[in-house]
Order: sequence, then C-alpha cells, then structure tokens
Amino acid sequence: MKNILDFARAKREAQPIVVVTAYDALMARLVAASEVDAILVGDSAAMVVHGYPSTVHATITMMGTHTAAVRRGAPATFIVSDMPFLSVRQGRDGAVRDAGVLVQAGATAVKIEGVAGHEDIIAHLVQSGIPVMGHLGLTPQSVNQFGGHRLQGTSPEAAARARKEAEMLERLGAFALVLECVPAALATEISRERAIPVIGIGAGAGTDGQVLVLSDLLGLDPTFKPRFARRYMDGHEAVTGALNQFVHDVRAARFPAREEVLA
Ligand code: KIV
Repeated sequence: MKNILDFARAKREAQPIVVVTAYDALMARLVAASEVDAILVGDSAAMVVHGYPSTVHATITMMGTHTAAVRRGAPATFIVSDMPFLSVRQGRDGAVRDAGVLVQAGATAVKIEGVAGHEDIIAHLVQSGIPVMGHLGLTPQSVNQFGGHRLQGTSPEAAARARKEAEMLERLGAFALVLECVPAALATEISRERAIPVIGIGAGAGTDGQVLVLSDLLGLDPTFKPRFARRYMDGHEAVTGALNQFVHDVRAARFPAREEVLA
C-alpha cells in the first residue's frame, strides 16, 4: 500500500489488507521486506516494549519516537500511528499538535480510538490533510471503562451502536477502520455495510483485512496468547535457544572461532 487510495482499491477489488505492528527500525525493516501491506505503530508499544499493563501509558513522546524509528526502518511503507490515550480529548489544538508530531515523525496516517465525543476532531484532522483510521469494538484505551479486555458488541444495543459509529467514521472521512474483538457476525455485517475497509483483530474472517501484533504472530511471549491470534513461529523458543547456544559455545571455548578473531 502506498497511500489511502490503495486501501480503497483493495476494498473495491476484495483484496484482503494485511497489517502488523512494529515499534522499532529493526522490526520495521523485517516487515518491509515481507509482503505485509502496512505497519501499525500501535500504542500496544506501551505494553509490548515498555512493559506497562495497558495502553493508557502510551504518551505522544513515546509514539513519536517509535514512529520515527519505524519510518527509518521502513522508508517506503504505509505507516499508521496511534494517537495515544486522551490525545483527541484535549481539544482541537492539542489533537492537531499530537497528530502533527506523528506525521512529522513519519506516519502516513493516524489511528483514533472511538468516535463519540470527538467527531469534530476526526473531521478536523481529515480536513487538515491527515488520513484517519478509526478503531471500534474493544478500544484498549477504554479498558478501565470496559472492566477488562473483553469481547464488545455482544448485546443488540452495543451492536447497533458499533454499526452506527462505523457509519459515522466513514461520514467523517476516515479512510479505514480497525474493528477489535467483536462477534464475527457483527464484523462481517459492518464490513459489508461500509465502503471503507474494515480491518479486523479478533473479529472473525468476514472483514476486509486483518491486523496482528507482531510479537503475537512471532510467538515471542509465551505468557500471552490471545485466542484470536495465530503464532506463525515459536519465536521465544528460537531466541532463547540461540542465546543458550551462545552461552554453551562461550563456556566450551567454541566461540569465538579463529575466523571470528580480529588479527
Ligand atoms: O495498538 C495496537 O497494537 C492496536 C492493534 C491491536 C489494532 O491498536
């Protein structure tokens, strides 16, 4: 994906959109070398990289730093960066300032959780020339309001609200939206109703694309395996295995070998 027109084309042509997270230059370079369509510099960085218990700990400084690193690693990739907790609730000036930090750090677009109460900010950013990706369903910045990371949109009222908010996002000018942890039937319905692509995570197979957190996909954290995520490798085993091999080689005087010694 080079720009938002490619997202629209993918939806028109029913070509699934594939997004993964990255937070640093090294991982961004790896993702850019793959066929993945776009990188999300998610505020999940607060949990995955910084070890916080939720994404409410992400700050604009943190997100700007990660975005700049990802852009250096993936100079030609479509990058979406998360507006951090409360960023869009500090009024138009604050939201514009934060979005500007992310775009100037290298983001092609920003992602905003929820819509109720900050419709004007979303519209204003779009009118300011900043592509906005929405995020509905389980919006992790509201984890304390939800009482945990749990499935959303399960009651008829909540499902109707999600459909209405998706329609609102499209009307406000969002170019795509992430739908997280909602029943598959609801996600399929919203994807069919909307002209903009719906990218699912924990939302079943009926969306226009899928996004996963890179460390989940690579199996780097054996203590964390959401049911909806698939591990494509056992990264934890691979990395700890390599580290232990290094330890054994040093202890057995097998490292460094003659060709690894600088003369
Ligand atoms: O921050 C993040 O990684 C996200 C994805 C879970 C969609 O928002």
